[in-house]
Amino acid sequence: MTSVTSGGDIVELTLDGFAHGGAAVGRLPDRRACFVAYAIPGERVRVRITDDRRRWARATLVDVLEASPDRVTPPCPLFGPDRCGGCTLQHIAPARQAQLLGGVIADQLRRIGHIEVPGDGTVEVLRPNPADGLGYRSRARFTVTRSGRLAFRKARSHDPIVIDDCPLLVPAAHDLLARVAAGWRRVTQVALQVGTDGTGTLAVRTNGRPAPPPTDVPTVVQARNRPAHRDRDTHVRYEVDGRRFVADATSFFQASVPAAELLVDLVRRFTAVQPDARVIDCYAGVGLFSVALAADGAHVTAIEASATACADARTNCRRLPVTVVRRDLASPPEIDHPVDAVVLDPPRIGAGAEVMSWIAALGPVRVTYISCDPATFARDAAMLVAAGYRLARIVGIDQFTHTRHVELVAGFERHPQ
Ligand SMILES: C[S@@+](CC[C@H](N)C(=O)[O-])C[C@H]1O[C@@H](n2cnc3c(N)ncnc32)[C@H](O)[C@@H]1O
Repeated sequence: MTSVTSGGDIVELTLDGFAHGGAAVGRLPDRRACFVAYAIPGERVRVRITDDRRRWARATLVDVLEASPDRVTPPCPLFGPDRCGGCTLQHIAPARQAQLLGGVIADQLRRIGHIEVPGDGTVEVLRPNPADGLGYRSRARFTVTRSGRLAFRKARSHDPIVIDDCPLLVPAAHDLLARVAAGWRRVTQVALQVGTDGTGTLAVRTNGRPAPPPTDVPTVVQARNRPAHRDRDTHVRYEVDGRRFVADATSFFQASVPAAELLVDLVRRFTAVQPDARVIDCYAGVGLFSVALAADGAHVTAIEASATACADARTNCRRLPVTVVRRDLASPPEIDHPVDAVVLDPPRIGAGAEVMSWIAALGPVRVTYISCDPATFARDAAMLVAAGYRLARIVGIDQFTHTRHVELVAGFERHPQ
């Protein structure tokens, strides 16, 4: 294809698509797709080409010539190109962000998984967070500047941008963040976690000798090749849907509690366990789904690789019919009983071929897949479909409002034999 543009050129475009990653998409005069961050489908824009490839191009926004009615004033002063890379959709009204991310889920399923969304082909994205998309995050991970200040990374860069506060954080986190914002030495990463009762913990990575944390907040210090050092009780406490959970500073917990409540509700409805059903909860974390499914009458095997998450899951699932198995699913365990349903909630890289074929071989009637990446989900979903399952339902969850990320829950059913 002959390119009619090259790097540095300024062109005018009408944008009509939205890509995984959060850029709006238009067509250059030679029909190549051009990705423009900080723009919105429907807008007419002037852009500067920054990356000119054979099949596509990337451009930066120069001017908005015709603005979308969904363009809004970003709520955070650190939003924008060359500024904080955490949120890249704050210029879009939250309801439209959710709609665009639903389109991304459907598009990834079609392109990567070759699977059509059941029903009318669209994926509804539910919005459990506050309507303005602020004050919902109970976890944040920071890098540390040379001068010992907490920072996020700039958009498309490893450069730090100092953070004094973040409007996405839950109210209780602001005070905690102010107490720990500076004074870090020999530290590469600080993760803050805040429970629904206001308890806060830090998980800190050091690049050498553990440095005493400059804070009275309970802290786990993880130094390379050394056991983690815990300063006091490093658990936070959450209440989700009336149930209490503990999670260590190093255990995973969902980033938004309202979204966690919605996830639990969807997992229960999609998995629809009968009394005494046998369920495997893969990537179980501290047992968020295991607790709910066991309370619904299932016998659950919760599989999780992290030692602290397994210990927390045993606490959270006590007195419920849940067996917690510490195992890396890179080599899935043998299961010596029939399995009615499998729930899986892998990290962003997805589950992969080994785990998906193990699940298919277990032959559950239902598989409920929770994902925070529509692309790896679509790849894994294709394997389930090839193994005789059909996608019965799929819902998106706007769990990470103002960011390019989206959560989803998908329910698969085995075709009758
Ligand atoms: C997205 S979290 C889900 C946790 C839980 N389902 C929840 O909703 O709170 C993924 C979990 O998978 C675990 N994990 C990551 N890789 C794993 C692996 N290869 N085998 C088993 N567990 C793994 C992580 O420790 C983490 O707890």
